[in-house]
Amino acid sequence: MSQAPIGVFDSGVGGLSVLREIRARLPEESLLYVADSGHVPYGEKSAEFIRERSQRIAEYLREQGAKALVLACNTATAAAVADLRARYPELPIVGMEPAVKPAAAATRSGVVGVLATTGTLKSAKFAALLDRFANDIRVVTQPCPGLVEQVEAGELDSPHTRELLRGWVKPLLEEGCDTLILGCTHYPFIKPLLRELVPETVRLVDTGAAVAKQLQALLDQHGLRAQGPVQETRYWSSGDPQAMERVLPKLMFELARVQPLFV
Ligand code: DGL
Repeated sequence: MSQAPIGVFDSGVGGLSVLREIRARLPEESLLYVADSGHVPYGEKSAEFIRERSQRIAEYLREQGAKALVLACNTATAAAVADLRARYPELPIVGMEPAVKPAAAATRSGVVGVLATTGTLKSAKFAALLDRFANDIRVVTQPCPGLVEQVEAGELDSPHTRELLRGWVKPLLEEGCDTLILGCTHYPFIKPLLRELVPETVRLVDTGAAVAKQLQALLDQHGLRAQGPVQETRYWSSGDPQAMERVLPKLMFELARVQPLFV
């Protein structure tokens, strides 16, 4: 069982920002990655729709033998992680949420900005997160509709991406944010561009590495860590597999085959 693969999924290619952290930390694990690009973006869809997609993808990954699941998507975690944990009580499942706790610890100005999808920012899970960790700071939220599509297209630093991002970041800086949370897994791919648009003193916080660490801990706890040589990742897309094959070198620095997903 410990040699079985780990299933990772997102609404699209954003979760690859988490996958690369998992690969770096756990190279001996074999990984399955599903991009639900046929239904991207999740951020503007209902929680019910996202729960249903998450169930189907989780079922598919289980059929492929997944010993653990990673929801490499803040929006899907907010909508579906509780449901998946109830359905598969025996399965280790790692979800993710915007890094409010570390940002609250890091801020000096006491003002933190959160860039995330509308779905994440409107969720009860995000409200609970603020209740728990943001009592002593001010949190300014900023939905970024359209940014996910730019990353899906591999437009990580095009003039249009730059213009969109500048428009969202400006009000956050004017509010006095010295820490920005990248609360969507697509956004770490535009970190270099974001770095150009904000002063050096502004911290950019994301959770990919923490998720990989938590996955490792959970595998250890269940005695499920794989051993042996470096393993590969297999990819599926419910959208256009060739479009994903074209952006993979840019996002993962590798050429790989992407299989179509029909669930
Ligand atoms: N990458 C996802 C997240 O972390 C969702 C992006 C989307 O499809 O809207 O929230």
